[in-house]
Amino acid sequence: MLTYSRPTRHVSEFADAVRDGLTKPGQKELPSKYLYDEVGSALFETICVLPEYGLTRADARLLETHARDIVDQLSYPIHVAELGSGTGKKTRWILEALSRRQRTFYYPIEISPSALAACEKELGQIDLVSVVGYEKPYLEGLRAVAKGRDSQEHLLVLFLGSTVGNFDREAGEDFLHEVRETLQPGDALLLGTDLEKDEQTQILAYDDPAGVTAAFNKNLLARINRELGANFDLSQFQHEARWNEMERRIEMHLRSLRKQCVSIPAALMKVSFAEGETIWTESSHKYRAAEVLAMAKRTGYRCEGQWIDGEWPFAQNLLICE
Ligand code: TRP
Repeated sequence: MLTYSRPTRHVSEFADAVRDGLTKPGQKELPSKYLYDEVGSALFETICVLPEYGLTRADARLLETHARDIVDQLSYPIHVAELGSGTGKKTRWILEALSRRQRTFYYPIEISPSALAACEKELGQIDLVSVVGYEKPYLEGLRAVAKGRDSQEHLLVLFLGSTVGNFDREAGEDFLHEVRETLQPGDALLLGTDLEKDEQTQILAYDDPAGVTAAFNKNLLARINRELGANFDLSQFQHEARWNEMERRIEMHLRSLRKQCVSIPAALMKVSFAEGETIWTESSHKYRAAEVLAMAKRTGYRCEGQWIDGEWPFAQNLLICE
């Protein structure tokens, strides 16, 4: 019998990631996937309905308008896996279009248990759709789904919301390649990509006046307080969104408003911040429509369709595995 207590794998992974990121020489960093605990996932759902954040509505509009065209290009029978489903609201359009042609299995892959539960509830009620959730990181989940399928079944992988843009450009491309490696010829990847637009619009989307995005970003520090026993004073950090013209990306930071020292017991560390020093928490790369096609081609896909929203420049790309 185990008589001592040991941090769960979950907590110690988080502690390791926090220690690595905050002891980086030069720019301090925290990995963005930790933004999505239960509070963070709920705040992100709110970001998606902010007037300044047109991205999710554009993504959903394209799916609603073109679901038929999209499913017409697929090979059947086909099942659906989604990387980072969130609550899965946008996915309804695709699942409904597919369910008119066949019984469909839908495998949401999501690290937030609360978002996954909401997704299973929301989409489990569509006729002829069965939902089987995987609480796993993207590639681990996708490999599990791919392993479980029959040889004649195809897979449609959804990677929506421009989440690919949260990787560095090169890492995003490597990721598309890794997804391709887990798939078979004739399988499909539906990839959402936010396109470049004027700077003011882009900044406001990541720094809304109501402060929801600021709360989302700062919740990462609150989470470190909750889970790792740290003493971050949230009033002494400020949310900041910057446009990096060279890299064509929005960068999200948390700026320390004064010189301060924070202790993080579960990560066995104390960390000090200079006045004005920042922690880099997330990047969101913006694309050009032609750039996505070139990237798809280099990573083993052909593009069967690219649909661009008329109101908010955003592209839905249907990539077929060669
Ligand atoms: N994939 C989303 C994006 O890049 C994630 C996101 C939206 C986000 N707003 C954010 C991440 C604010 C961190 C902070 O648009």
